[in-house]
Amino acid sequence: MIAQVEDSPDVIRAQGLEVGYRGRPIWREATFGIRRGEFVAVIGPNGAGKTTMFRMLLGLQRAWAGRVEVFGEVPRRGNPRIGYVPQRHSIDQETHVECESLVRLGISGTRWGPGFAARSEREAASAALSAVGASDLAHKAIGTLSGGELQRVFLAEALVGEPEMLLLDEPLSNLDLRRSRDLVDLVARLVHARNVTTLLVAHDINPLIHCLDRVIYIANGRVATGTPSEVLTSESLSALYGLPIEVLHDSRGNVVIVGGEGDRGAESG
Ligand SMILES: Nc1ncnc2c1ncn2[C@@H]1O[C@H](COP(=O)(O)OP(=O)(O)OP(=O)(O)O)[C@@H](O)[C@H]1O
Ligand SMILES: [Mg+2]
Repeated sequence: MIAQVEDSPDVIRAQGLEVGYRGRPIWREATFGIRRGEFVAVIGPNGAGKTTMFRMLLGLQRAWAGRVEVFGEVPRRGNPRIGYVPQRHSIDQETHVECESLVRLGISGTRWGPGFAARSEREAASAALSAVGASDLAHKAIGTLSGGELQRVFLAEALVGEPEMLLLDEPLSNLDLRRSRDLVDLVARLVHARNVTTLLVAHDINPLIHCLDRVIYIANGRVATGTPSEVLTSESLSALYGLPIEVLHDSRGNVVIVGGEGDRGAESG
């Protein structure tokens, strides 16, 4: 029998991956695959290494051990196939840059390349703003936006280069429950309409759980992956933390994780 050439549909493949800073390990033995078009939540407590995971996929952070491939290649900086929204805390109120100009920044260095005319740039930016339901914000200064509006505009900036993968680092922080659900529904629609593989870091899994294909749970130096029903169980999380953890479901169907880092109430991270 002829050996089959391996034809994995995975767009991210990690094998025995380990990372750390200045001699201090952050997490190790991460082995997982993410398929094209999957919507993945990355959860775990503060400092667990979620942002570090994104930095590895973006080619900004070297592995200590193991290997990782994105689209079948070693990650490289500035890959136009990836749209990235970094974790942010605040925008200076005095920032007078218009939303459309911010979104246009997402074009430079993308597949459109230099020489993409200013008019086409404006058209691409306004199409991206429209895709996130933010056309009316095009000429507002970013310093004047609410948290939810700002997240939509950042999402438009990440989408404008028509990426095949989106990495969104805590896009729901500072959003109320309703705004969180609206943003998650918007991202889920984009994931499915464009078949964009999307990884989203969140501290609360509940606004996301209904539309997730997979969860990456990072805690205690370990990385667990699987479907939400595989990962979010008392057995799986207790094994991961090395401590008793209970995954409960409240009367509204919310996942409540108790133990590990202390009682986190309705938060998963
Ligand atoms: N450049 C760096 N040099 C040294 N240590 C770093 C560096 N960047 C991150 N760390 C440390 O690595 C650990 C993981 O950081 P990371 O930002 O990946 O965590 P996180 O899971 O994203 O946390 P949060 O939920 O707070 O955003 C933290 O302890 C952090 O202090
Ligand atoms: Mg982070």
